[in-house]
Parts: sequence; C-alpha cells; structure tokens
Amino acid sequence: MLYQTPRGTYDILPEEIHKWQETEDLIRRITKKYRYSEIRTPYFESTSVFARENDSSDMVNKEMYTFTTGSESYTLRPEGTAGVIRSFDQHKLYGSMEMPARFYYMGAMFRHERPQKGRQRQFHQFGVENIGIKNPQIDAETIALGYDIVKEMGISSVKVLINTLGDDISRENYRTALREHFAPYLDELCGDCRRRYDQNPLRILDCKTDHEHPAVQNAPKLSEYLNDESRQYFADVLHALDALGIPYEIDEKLVRGLDYYTHTVFEVVSTRPDSGAQATVFGGGRYDHFVSYYGGPDLSGIGFAIGLERLIALASEEGHPFTKDDAVDVYVIGLGDVAEEVLKILQDLRHAGFRADGNFVRRSLKAQFKSADRSGAEYIVIIGEDEVKNGTANVKKTAERVQETVAIGSLAETLRAWKGSQK
Ligand code: HAM
Repeated sequence: MLYQTPRGTYDILPEEIHKWQETEDLIRRITKKYRYSEIRTPYFESTSVFARENDSSDMVNKEMYTFTTGSESYTLRPEGTAGVIRSFDQHKLYGSMEMPARFYYMGAMFRHERPQKGRQRQFHQFGVENIGIKNPQIDAETIALGYDIVKEMGISSVKVLINTLGDDISRENYRTALREHFAPYLDELCGDCRRRYDQNPLRILDCKTDHEHPAVQNAPKLSEYLNDESRQYFADVLHALDALGIPYEIDEKLVRGLDYYTHTVFEVVSTRPDSGAQATVFGGGRYDHFVSYYGGPDLSGIGFAIGLERLIALASEEGHPFTKDDAVDVYVIGLGDVAEEVLKILQDLRHAGFRADGNFVRRSLKAQFKSADRSGAEYIVIIGEDEVKNGTANVKKTAERVQETVAIGSLAETLRAWKGSQK
C-alpha cells in the first residue's frame, strides 16, 4: 500500500522548499527592521486557550483539532495569537519588555476546514502581535509591515480592506440593532446564523451561506452606531495610512472571522480574478480584551497573520523570481577503488568552506560526469587509483573546459585561489 498525506495536508518537497526559505528570510529581514522579536509557542495548547467563553467563530466552534490525553483536553493551534498572548501573560512579559512588546511567529496552524485551492487543514502563517499601547499610528504601522512584505514579494495586485468594529459600547449598540433587524428573518437564515444571532450577530454578516440574503445585504451599518471616540480613532488610523501612502478601501461588511477584535480590522486581498478562496493574503486587527482574558493586565494589542501558502502562490503567479540555491562548488569523481579517498577529499573541501558532493560507487566516467553536471559544480575533481598513488587529482573548471593536475593536499587552496581570481 502506498501511504498518503491526510486530506488537506501536503508535503513541501525539496524542489519547492527554496521558495519557502527565501520567503521566510525576506520576512525575517523586514520584520527585524520593525524591531519585532520571534516567539515560539507550542503547537498545541490546553483547549481552553482557544475555546474562549462565548466564542462564536467557526474556527473555535467547528474547525479545531482537539484530543484528550488522560483527563486533559488539548487543541492543535488553529492560529497564533492566542498562544502568544497566553505566553505574554504567563511570563508577565508586560513587566520585563518595553511597550509595545512586539512578537512575530512562523509555523504550522491546523483547522478542520473543507480543503480547496488556498485552503488547507495544515497551513503556515507568519504573524505579528504588537501589544501594550493603543494608538492609531501603531495600527497603521502594523498594516504597513504586512504591506511591505507583500510588496517585496513582488505582489502588486492586492488591496487593503479596512473597517472598524468600534469600542465595546458602539459594538453593543450595533449588536442590538442587528438583532432587531434579523429577528423577522431568523427562519430563513442557516442554522449557524441562528446560533450567531444569540451569540454574536455580527458574525451573520460574515456568513458564507447567507451572504446573498437580502436581510444580510440590507443590514444596518456599524458606522451608524459608532460613538465619537471610535469614529475619531478610525479617522486617525486612516489618516496615518494616507500619510504613509498606503491605499485602502473601507469595507463596512468586513467583520473578520474571529471574535476577539475591537476597533481596527483589516485584510489584504488579491485582486487577481483567479485567486478564489486564497484571495485573502492576510488579515488582522486590534484586540482590547485578549491580554486580560488570560489573566494579564488590561492592555490592548494589534496583529495580523499572513498565510504563507497564499503569499508564495501569489508571488509565483506574479512572476517573483525565486532563486534555487542548491548547486555545489565542487563535484568529486572517483574511478576504481577510491571511495575512501573521495570521502576524505570531500570532507577536506567542506571543512575548507566549499559545498561539495561526490561519487562513492563504481560508475562509468560518463555517468559520473552527468551527476557532476546536474550538481551545478563549478569545479570537477577526478581521481583514479593512479592519482591516489601519486597524491594528485585532475581538476576541471566546468565553464572553461580546462583541466589541471593538482596535489590532493593543496586542492582546497588551489580551488580557493581560482575562485578568488574569478571575482
Ligand atoms: P485569520 O484571518 O484566521 O487570522 O488567518 C490569517 C491568514 O491565514 C488568512 O488571511 C489566510 O491567508 C491564512 N489562512 C487561514 N486559514 C487558512 C487555511 N485553512 N488554509 C490556508 N491559509 C489559511 C488569524 O489567524 C489571526 N490570528 C490574525 C491576527 C493576528 N489577528 C490579530 N493578530
């Protein structure tokens, strides 16, 4: 039987991995400019870290991979934010770190969703959390970081969608208005929306099943229920984005799929017509009550997460020139009974700083040259039994098709000199 990866998961094979490594390097380089530090939290947490009281999101209610060991219930992390905040509170980092505390993370997340293009059950996120200071400029700076990454990946067909969910009072007033609005249509809405009606009617606006329903289309707008403070906060965020020259579109229907947001919420979506389910490259927002939920002080934070599969797919579609960097410098060909000598030469070359590969089994010269060619080597070292006896090797510069005889003991030195003279 041939075993397969579970549905919604996949292998990232060596032929693709360079795209991931380059993307991760680029992200780390940019994120450091913004003074973020990496944090690594466990891939599973106590279920209660994710299944927060009264949470109405699909992610928590339908998509979690939860398992029990003994009497403990654990869940594979469906997202990164909860673990970071749990860690921030557990280690009282608010006492030891400068505010705002800035964290980033990269790694796999797990959601039991219906797999399709751009939607997997195990996927990877890069995310940031900026915790401790509530300020519109920080919101704009956070969006700018994500925007920088997308742009540096060569993705130009994207737009920033932004909205505000306002403060608690504004949102509560809005929820009341939504309940009044949806009450006559409850029978016509899906089962999930009937649950959402009680738990959090804002979620109805985000429903994939009912989004064409006239009651959803004509629902009252949150902007009509914002108090002055919330309105001003949002205006300041938009002003800061204008100052940075980041284009955005206000999307009053944008409520985001997770429950913890307050004030600013945003998504960056692809405008390519074929992007389908993978259209949303990243999403995030501000959260006022998350830090205190896990037992910490009353601090606000903001963050976002980029789906790395989607980022890499879009960059590839837009022609980003990912470069493969797996060529070796030297390939050692062995003829006759010289495998151990090949091994010793390879190790010497590697310890001298070269990338080196070679051949240990008896194969024809032609076959070994083919391997050398595939390895991308700049130099090919050829040794046979006679050369080993004489302590010499023949070295070919692949580009120039010249061959020289060099003492085995000074191979590394000679190659270094040749490499140096090329520059
Ligand atoms: P999210 O919108 O659930 O937010 O996910 C962020 C991004 O992860 C999405 O825009 C998408 O690119 C990617 N993503 C989500 N689910 C999948 C999937 N099943 N397959 C492939 N990619 C996926 C969050 O996770 C929040 N924690 C973001 C945040 C951080 N908010 C504040 N801080």
